Amino acid sequence: MSHPKDAPAVHPVPPAFAAQANLTRADYQRLYAESLRDPDGFWRQVATRLDWMRPPTQGKDTSFDREDFRIRWFADGELNASVECLDRHLAARGDRTALLFEPDDPAQPAQSVTYRDLHARVCRLGNALRNLGVARGDRVTIYLPMIPDAVVAMLACARIGAIHSVVFGGFSPNAIADRVADCGSKLVITADEGVRGGRRIPLKANVDAALRLPRSNSVETVLVVRHTGAAVDMQMPRDRWFDAVVEGQPDQCRPERMNAEDPLFILYTSGSTGKPKGVLHTTGGYLVYASYTHACVFDLKDDDVYWCTADVGWITGHSYIVYGPLANGATTLVFEGVPNHPDHSRFWQVVDKHRVTLFYTAPTAIRALMREGDGPVRATSRASLRVLGTVGEPINPEAWRWYHAVVGDGRCPVVDTWWQTETGGILITPLPGATDLKPGSATQPFFGVRPALVDADGRRLEGEAEGNLVLLDSWPGQMRTVHGDHQRFFDTYFSAYPGMYFTGDGARRDANGDYWITGRVDDVINVSGHRIGTAEVESALVSHPKVAEAAVVGFPHDIKGQGLYAYVTLVAGEPGSDALRDELVRHVRSEIGPIAAPDHLQWAPALPKTRSGKIMRRILRKIAENQPDQLGDTSTLADPSVVDALVKARRDAG
Ligand code: WT7
Repeated sequence: MSHPKDAPAVHPVPPAFAAQANLTRADYQRLYAESLRDPDGFWRQVATRLDWMRPPTQGKDTSFDREDFRIRWFADGELNASVECLDRHLAARGDRTALLFEPDDPAQPAQSVTYRDLHARVCRLGNALRNLGVARGDRVTIYLPMIPDAVVAMLACARIGAIHSVVFGGFSPNAIADRVADCGSKLVITADEGVRGGRRIPLKANVDAALRLPRSNSVETVLVVRHTGAAVDMQMPRDRWFDAVVEGQPDQCRPERMNAEDPLFILYTSGSTGKPKGVLHTTGGYLVYASYTHACVFDLKDDDVYWCTADVGWITGHSYIVYGPLANGATTLVFEGVPNHPDHSRFWQVVDKHRVTLFYTAPTAIRALMREGDGPVRATSRASLRVLGTVGEPINPEAWRWYHAVVGDGRCPVVDTWWQTETGGILITPLPGATDLKPGSATQPFFGVRPALVDADGRRLEGEAEGNLVLLDSWPGQMRTVHGDHQRFFDTYFSAYPGMYFTGDGARRDANGDYWITGRVDDVINVSGHRIGTAEVESALVSHPKVAEAAVVGFPHDIKGQGLYAYVTLVAGEPGSDALRDELVRHVRSEIGPIAAPDHLQWAPALPKTRSGKIMRRILRKIAENQPDQLGDTSTLADPSVVDALVKARRDAG
């Protein structure tokens, strides 16, 4: 076995790594103390890593208190994110590779895009968008596969001051329409098709279906990237080929001077209630934070080849495929494919092919590959690797050890990075040259970050403790609002514990002050590192005419971390059948997307409720986990016999 039972609980920083690291333990301790003593001065100094059109004279201006609630950073600074990511690198590094593109099919040629090429492509699209009437402040929806044009599209929006909203290619037409309608997008950028693991995804057809829904009527133009060459329906004059509109455009494009607090993008994410929230990030603080964390957490060096396997449809892709690495002038790899196609060695083949040095992926991928054994990994060299990272969900120690011992051959520090769509960048993480590692722990706060644990009543817990994870003060990458609903922003994050940002996560702090994230404590389920709101899945289920009521909970899943378990009450007289079960799962896929499809769906003649009508999810979770002996107190239920029926049906299902 590759990970012995007596595996160490602590992995000290390897001396050879510390000797070459950008930040040592002493640096971390000194800078962290400084960042808390004088956050304004600390971050103003860090902000000089950007070029700014007008350097800020202001730094931190934030308060989480209801009376004077505000989050502003570098408020009088001016910059353009595309200039920071492109133009400023041209003189010294114009011929350096900005993007490496590895297609889904390894037989197709890889591509390498220099900073100069990328700049020209972004400028041409920026000009084309302006010609199509897209102006500063307008919203643009991007629904693209993982191809270089996805990066081009994001940066072209940034260049002209348009606010991008990237929608993950796995979302359904209905989910696209919700996101288009919420922000009133004027233009959509998509492709004929995407390809993942050899399977084609009808992106343009999905956009067509989304735009047939009346609520998406803000869209005037659809740009279509020709990717697979598949025949698609072009509706003139709405639909335009991407290559035709950029053709002949000048390769220079005047960048908008944006204020630091002008929006850069909106990204939708699921919460515990209601519709997905449009998380809004602004320009200056976000870019300072994304670039600085990227450089520190990955110990970025000039000649690194960096690969984050996320999709640009998630925040990880925004901050750590696009904005962080490109602002740092790094080489960032864009991978169209999946870990198991054409075989389970693919990740490591790509690492060898492109000499990847810094590798960042999700625990769910690690667990899935670990199940295939060491062979597919050992078949490759991976000698180029220097730092390994994980993100998205708690990593179980077994998976951590396998990643460290087998993938990294025991040489590479593993950084377990905790953060959220809302935080813009990494908040709790080891720094590879500074922090002793513990499998399963995200360890220590990044500079300026002040985590704390509170109990249900908001009382601070000191020392070794377990509780709800809050943040006591702001950091530059923090989201600024929920698009169109500032009250929801305040209520969601700042009302549970006055004066603090509530993360929605639980965590344990050990005797050394290291943090261990235990997972969501709200009704958000983390499926393969993606957030699914139970409320969203429930409302998709009840939108089916045969469903009267539904309750969705998470349950432990070997690969996905958590799976979705749905309890469904059908309308009176409707018998539950296997065919109907399949139909309901399909219905959720088409309402939201495949990622929200329940793994289990159990018929529930009734749901356990309190006398005031509140569904008791705690009980439903225990039934889903098949632990009926741990139901706890059921005496407050309106009808305790409901539970017995559900337990019996669960047990019969095995
Ligand atoms: C939620 C945020 C951050 C980008 C990807 C997910 C969970 C994230 C970790 C980690 C334990 C983690 C939390 C968090 N999470 N990273 N290293 N250890 N849990 O972004 O979709 O906004 O989800 O993911 O529960 O709240 P997201």
